[in-house]
Amino acid sequence: MTVTTRKLSNGTEIPMFGLGVWQVDDGAQTERAVTWALEAGYRLIDTAQAYGNEASVGKAIRESGVPREEIFLTTKFYPGGKDARVEAEKSLERLGTEYLDLYLIHWPQGGPTWAWPGMEAAVEAGLTKGIGISNFGADEIQELSKVANIQPAVNQIQFSPFEYRAGLVAAGEEAGVVSQAYSPLGTGRHLDGPALARIAEATGHTPAQVLIRWAIQKGLSVIPKSVHQDRIVENFNVFDFELDDAAVADLDALDTTHQTADALSSSGKWWS
Ligand SMILES: NC(=O)c1ccc[n+]([C@@H]2O[C@H](COP(=O)([O-])OP(=O)(O)OC[C@H]3O[C@@H](n4cnc5c(N)ncnc54)[C@H](OP(=O)(O)O)[C@@H]3O)[C@@H](O)[C@H]2O)c1
Repeated sequence: MTVTTRKLSNGTEIPMFGLGVWQVDDGAQTERAVTWALEAGYRLIDTAQAYGNEASVGKAIRESGVPREEIFLTTKFYPGGKDARVEAEKSLERLGTEYLDLYLIHWPQGGPTWAWPGMEAAVEAGLTKGIGISNFGADEIQELSKVANIQPAVNQIQFSPFEYRAGLVAAGEEAGVVSQAYSPLGTGRHLDGPALARIAEATGHTPAQVLIRWAIQKGLSVIPKSVHQDRIVENFNVFDFELDDAAVADLDALDTTHQTADALSSSGKWWS
């Protein structure tokens, strides 16, 4: 199984698929999940300062035998902190690695621009290859783009057929920002339902695989989370089939955001 990639504005290639480790306990649970994922062929791991499990992610990567340069490692600046560059150094220490592939502002707390000079300083200091954002809306991307010396490479957003933020993805593309899909399975809530069950049966795949495949076909890098080895393997097996136009249209019709440009992951700005 070969994971496809997309080129980012900083010149690096982001895998279209990876493992997310939100709500995975630091220690054995994170180490096992990351180990199983790398064994299955995953080459992108998504963690965050707020997840509290960077040390275990780093340990599993180091012990995997997979060369560091083959892995695309993302962490996120917790915007309750003050200086994104200083916090990147601390992340690298916890991760036990020399550099990040991608460093994101986790959410635009306090506005979309104040943390960016620290993010740029992290690139200049060689702490990370790329920088980006998460949970930014279309207007916040624009506001940041106007003042940035280094443009954001990625906006990580909640994205699934049920939260199909086509307007936001398009706004990103226009600004050279690749969207990445978080909570592609709705944190486990989107796996039931008749339309999805019908498409899963017709394609001979599982509901989770259909949701992941849909996001990949929309051009987004996708980062489902699981702590179970069988599901980690199942979620990876999405590069051997394609959803046809009718299936994609049926999934598109599940949208509850009505293609809004709103990138919030719940109603209201949950971080303010
Ligand atoms: N930037 C942000 O603000 C933000 C916000 C949310 C998430 N994220 C990132 O995106 C990642 C994924 O999002 P998420 O954690 O919200 O959830 P998700 O990937 O949408 O769904 C994960 C849930 O689905 C279950 N699951 C996974 N694969 C399955 C399968 N094949 N069959 C049945 N159930 C399955 C998991 O259970 P088990 O683990 O028990 O298998 C877990 O409960 C996060 O881990 C994080 O890295 C970022």
